[in-house]
Amino acid sequence: AVTLQENAAGFCGVDGTIDSNNAGFTGSGFANTENLIGTRIRWSVNATSASDYLLDWRFANGGIARPASVRINGTNLANVDFPTTGGWTSWSQASAVVSLEAGENSVELVADGSDGLANIDSLTV
Ligand code: GCU
Repeated sequence: AVTLQENAAGFCGVDGTIDSNNAGFTGSGFANTENLIGTRIRWSVNATSASDYLLDWRFANGGIARPASVRINGTNLANVDFPTTGGWTSWSQASAVVSLEAGENSVELVADGSDGLANIDSLTV
């Protein structure tokens, strides 16, 4: 498995900021989207072969659930709930299994609610 931090080559961007104000993150910080529907975090994930892969996000959510769509190469292939973790410094994992193509894949988490996404620490594939 490969874990993509916010400073990894495969991390492409966030509609928001890279923050470090809530302890417990790994690497140099976490991705914090604006609190708006449709805000996204984007990665480029290299798959050695076309197959199903487990995408596993480390996240914190001090509010109520912040559901997201998982868009692979532009198509919504899964939905992840990102439930409350009880506080912004409490971190948990949420995952989805999706089909990736061989080579580079566009992976996007898209906020389905007006709170935006949970704070996302990393993506492990
Ligand atoms: C708090 C928290 C942020 C979080 C934000 C939110 O301000 O410190 O890290 O992103 O709430 O509601 O999204």
